[in-house]
Amino acid sequence: MNDTEYMGLALQLARNGCGHVNPNPMVGAVLVKDNRIIGQGYHERYGAPHAERNALACCTESPAGATLYVTLEPCCHYGKTPPCTEAVLKSGICRVVIGSHDPNPLVAGKGIELLRGQGIEIAEGVLKAECDRLNEVFFHFIGTGKPYVVMKYAMTMDGKTAAYTGASKWITGETARRRVHEDRGRYSAVMTGVGTVIADDPLLTCRMEGGRNPLRIICDTKLRTPHSSQIIATAHRIPTIIATACKDLQVHQPYIKAGCRILPVSQKDGYLDLKELMVKLGEEKVDSILLEGGGILNWSALQAGIVNKVQTYIAPKLLGGAAARSPVAGIGVPHPDDAFFLTNSIITCLGEDILVESEVQSNVHRNY
Ligand SMILES: NC(=O)c1ccc[n+]([C@@H]2O[C@H](COP(=O)([O-])OP(=O)(O)OC[C@H]3O[C@@H](n4cnc5c(N)ncnc54)[C@H](OP(=O)(O)O)[C@@H]3O)[C@@H](O)[C@H]2O)c1
Repeated sequence: MNDTEYMGLALQLARNGCGHVNPNPMVGAVLVKDNRIIGQGYHERYGAPHAERNALACCTESPAGATLYVTLEPCCHYGKTPPCTEAVLKSGICRVVIGSHDPNPLVAGKGIELLRGQGIEIAEGVLKAECDRLNEVFFHFIGTGKPYVVMKYAMTMDGKTAAYTGASKWITGETARRRVHEDRGRYSAVMTGVGTVIADDPLLTCRMEGGRNPLRIICDTKLRTPHSSQIIATAHRIPTIIATACKDLQVHQPYIKAGCRILPVSQKDGYLDLKELMVKLGEEKVDSILLEGGGILNWSALQAGIVNKVQTYIAPKLLGGAAARSPVAGIGVPHPDDAFFLTNSIITCLGEDILVESEVQSNVHRNY
């Protein structure tokens, strides 16, 4: 096997940490000596040992003289665990092959320099694009202090998210819906608007075996989430935040009693200020959000510039209806040149349905 293949294996290992390490990165490590794998590991959960230490801990023979393949630059600072560079130096490893640089200001190239300064041979950038993509959430969060937001919606081939009656169950098939549940377990939080809570009465849980429920966030400017909704009925056992501009403590009371947390957010143009909400959630270490809103909230989120990625599930169906809803509402842009441009699209077939995942171009000047 060559460097790329061993790094591919380290990437596979890293993915096992998905949904368990936030707001830390997913990292995988493989130790190789004389072309034999002698140890492997990954960062398993937040606060637990890093991938390099796990690989060293399960070595089948002495790591002296071995090569370490690691998807992210080894850390060189004391956090919840001691620096991995220390463990690497102590072990006698003589070569380190790295995928991504660590943008954490406490590391940012210093881990590589420290190892190189001690005579360790370093190879950088192996499978870099794949390693960077694996940790897009971590890179965004460490750089901005705000959550990485993935706007997700399901629509028919004629661009409808519900029939003209408002009925929306189900647009997509089982395979696509299973993928949504996987993503709910992967991101820290799921967020929707009070409009969707009223229309669909969703639970917004991760219904996968062994899956982790995300924090649920409801955007509710005036605090009108129905007390009888499934979200409120389950708030005692599933963490739930209602973000609101309502300051009336008496109106808060029944929600708090039901187990919800009220998060005060300022009002802007009649709705919640989503930029302020992102700052507040980032301060609480919410590194990622799956936005499962209706068209009204989706438009506001795009306008506020908080959306990083769009996931469009497309079902091979046509619903018709001039009044049937589409995934992004609001006033819209006046001209195609003013569009929100998407890039780096990846297309996946999920049963009969298609998933298109694209990044939102953030540096486009909008003139409306
Ligand atoms: N197919 C899909 O993927 C999918 C997903 C979700 C929803 N849906 C469908 O979408 C429909 C509901 O859409 P919707 O647009 O009415 O619901 P929504 O976008 O989920 O909620 C909109 C409401 O959120 C509140 N809100 C709070 N802060 C906001 C902000 N900054 N910007 C915008 N809104 C904010 C507003 O009510 P307040 O002013 O009272 O706060 C607003 O009316 C339903 O038919 C549902 O089935 C489909």
